[in-house]
Amino acid sequence: MLRDKTVLLGSGGGPLTWVAIDVLRTLQRAGARVGVVLSMETDAFVPALTFQTLAGEEVMAASDVYGAVRGGRFQTLAAVVREVDALVVVPATPALLTKMATACADETLARAFLLHQGPTLVAFPGQATEYRHVLVQRNIQQLRDAGVHIYDVGVPETAAAADVLEWSLAPTDIATALGNCLHQTAALADKVLIITAGPTQEPIDPVRHISNRSSGKTGYVLAAAAQRRGAQVILVSGPTHLDAPTGVQCLHVQTALEMRQAVLDHFDQADAVIKTAAVADFRPLRRAEDKVKKDAAEINIPLERNPDILAELGRQKGQRVLVGFAAETQALLQNAQQKVQSKNLDLIVVNDVSDPSIGFASDHNRVHLLEADGRVEELPTMTKTRMAEHILDRVQRLFEARDQG
Ligand code: PMT
Repeated sequence: MLRDKTVLLGSGGGPLTWVAIDVLRTLQRAGARVGVVLSMETDAFVPALTFQTLAGEEVMAASDVYGAVRGGRFQTLAAVVREVDALVVVPATPALLTKMATACADETLARAFLLHQGPTLVAFPGQATEYRHVLVQRNIQQLRDAGVHIYDVGVPETAAAADVLEWSLAPTDIATALGNCLHQTAALADKVLIITAGPTQEPIDPVRHISNRSSGKTGYVLAAAAQRRGAQVILVSGPTHLDAPTGVQCLHVQTALEMRQAVLDHFDQADAVIKTAAVADFRPLRRAEDKVKKDAAEINIPLERNPDILAELGRQKGQRVLVGFAAETQALLQNAQQKVQSKNLDLIVVNDVSDPSIGFASDHNRVHLLEADGRVEELPTMTKTRMAEHILDRVQRLFEARDQG
């Protein structure tokens, strides 16, 4: 998994800096080419020369924020980072975690982290007292939410150990974790995913419409996560205030009919469709040319049904993986089960939209994952970013099951 990969190793400083040296050697033995960037804290514990000797090339100093002269010519940090398949930060000290979580790019490693587009693994002794501090934990959570892989060494050898000196980080385990990150990055490499997001708006007249409270957050974070795993993502989005994730093709639509058309136009090339969008079930029978006057005491707007896009896809799904979302307020699992069958889905993500703290427009959700064979997994309340990773793990497993026939 690591053979012929280019890894940038960012070394934190502290009593565990020696682990970075061991990780460097382990990655090299696994066939990776390893470049090193030191942090402001590293030199006090292990001199740059040690890394330089082992890496067999110049290492980047903490002050090389915009680049350095290497091999006789100036190389920008952006150019160095562009060549990198994965970034591993070990040991990630509280100072480094803070800089990464707050985008404080005042040293080379923190800026390299912002520039790097591929997987990042950060490793630290998570149970040591300073790492358990609520503020450090907040930074770790921020990084997790941004899609960073966290390697937190498990149980201490001596249960009472609170000091970082009592802890160890196993270099081979870190190398394995990094290999897994790289595997995950490529896991959807040959797949095309259509992801729908946001609400639809069904115009009543030029200034009014029927819609709902969907913000699009769920679909957008899923699109970004799928793109990070190497998929080609086509995001079909109703009106939202969000920016499309980098590298994702975004098709903007307004109405359910437009969403249907955009999805069908790309359905042939899709390996999977994930329908997070909250599609309006009805649309006004007629759209008034001019703004409807408000002088009438009462107004009736006749509505007609919108097509059920997902049900239509279900009828022609072939080998594709189809994932629906179910926004329910009661009898969650029974209603969702019925949708799995009637829409011919492989998986449905069920959320209770009667709880205003989750679901619509929130950054969090609490969902059940219900598969076509009736298996259910209940996930605790978590950020939509983390939920997206769970859903994509399922989609990957569905692809694998399909490939095995
Ligand atoms: O966008 P956010 O603010 O992040 O909020 C996320 C969410 C609450 C919108 C999301 O988690 C969610 O529940 N989305 C589905 C909402 C919905 O329309 O549920 P439904 O039970 O009515 O529809 C079931 C499925 O059929 C959905 O996948 C929906 O996209 C699809 N459908 C529904 C109606 C229709 N005419 N065509 C469809 O394709």
